[in-house]
Amino acid sequence: MVKAKEANLRSRMERDATDCAAAKMLKREPCHNGDDDCAVCNDGAAVLHVGHSHAHASTPPPLGKWSYTADVARAFPQGAEELKRATVIVTGANGGIGRETAKALATIGARVVLACRNLAKAGVAKTYILNSSKLGESGRVVCMELDLASPQSIKAFVARFTKQSQEERWDPLSTLVCNAGITALGGLRVNEEGTESTFATNHLGHCLLVKLLLPVLKQYAPLARVVVVGSNSHFGPLATKDMLNKEAIMTKVVRPEKRDFSPMKAYGSSKLFNTLFACALHRQYASDGVVACSLHPGSMIASDIGRESWIANFYLKYINSWFAKSVDQGASTTVMCCLMPASELKGQYFNDCAVFAPSPLAQDENVQSFAWALTDELLRAHL
Ligand SMILES: NC(=O)c1ccc[n+]([C@@H]2O[C@H](COP(=O)([O-])OP(=O)(O)OC[C@H]3O[C@@H](n4cnc5c(N)ncnc54)[C@H](OP(=O)(O)O)[C@@H]3O)[C@@H](O)[C@H]2O)c1
Repeated sequence: MVKAKEANLRSRMERDATDCAAAKMLKREPCHNGDDDCAVCNDGAAVLHVGHSHAHASTPPPLGKWSYTADVARAFPQGAEELKRATVIVTGANGGIGRETAKALATIGARVVLACRNLAKAGVAKTYILNSSKLGESGRVVCMELDLASPQSIKAFVARFTKQSQEERWDPLSTLVCNAGITALGGLRVNEEGTESTFATNHLGHCLLVKLLLPVLKQYAPLARVVVVGSNSHFGPLATKDMLNKEAIMTKVVRPEKRDFSPMKAYGSSKLFNTLFACALHRQYASDGVVACSLHPGSMIASDIGRESWIANFYLKYINSWFAKSVDQGASTTVMCCLMPASELKGQYFNDCAVFAPSPLAQDENVQSFAWALTDELLRAHL
């Protein structure tokens, strides 16, 4: 059915392209596949890339699982226009989905801060973004150090961002993308405060960052937004009774014993907290003009997420990559959440460029409030 529709659209556009070529309506435009420039027919409604041997229609396929970030950018011209006068922070932007997200937003024209724990890697990513997007020196991409596992590093980042953005008169901060994430496949590790590293990085670090940046974000009200990259792994790691029990969360999630530690449960729990946090943040601050949402970028995308296990890494990069979304496609839902009207985020969960129902636990407002309060308690020393 979908295939038939695509074929229909393609043949209609190929016909249009022939007409437009005759009418000399062809012009050059970067191709959404990230290939070299190609000729496109643009009559304002239909665009067909005809420079490739595999001519493909690129507008307006409805957004979905296989959409590229450039498809998303084209689908939200007003959001893209707004971002040209705004600053966006992307955490964990030196690789994987974060780097492709940063590239897409920089290509649109936003100032993009690559918030990364390793400045050397961030510098390499910046060069990749500027070169592959053909922005060159005109790209407004900035690297800043941020280690989400360290509250001290988060505070230093916020101070540095605030100072530099004021001194250099940057456009206002409109969007914070909480993308960085780890899976502790190498085993249990804790941060400087004794908190399990997955929970500390994926959830607590992002919460502290959001809370410290709220005064800056509020200056962009009512359109400021926080986009949290979660995961469908949030389905199932914790039982409802655990989620309203502080003792259970402390022993199973925040400070687990080595013998009880499961990397995938720790990852799933941190991702459940990501979605609970986005919902609670939205409920708490939407009236102040800061909205939020969370999302699943796609499953088993060939990023570095499995780096601590050679088997997982090999499987992701060399086997599953034949079937999964590309890393650019994995960034599409995030980019969509950055570009769609702020009023439509509504604290919701997105997947494959569409609204998607998160787990019943993530939707439970009592659980959201409980997670919010516990998070505040764990961060009290830093707020
Ligand atoms: N790949 C998937 O299939 C998949 C599926 C569902 C959800 N996700 C989510 O998508 C997001 C991006 O993951 P990815 O797949 O792109 O993985 P990735 O390639 O491993 O990228 C993760 C990024 O997070 C950064 N990071 C890790 N710890 C950090 C810390 N303490 N402080 C600051 N940055 C830190 C990494 O920096 P370093 O290079 O310095 O480590 C890297 O830039 C994550 O939230 C992940 O949970 C991914």
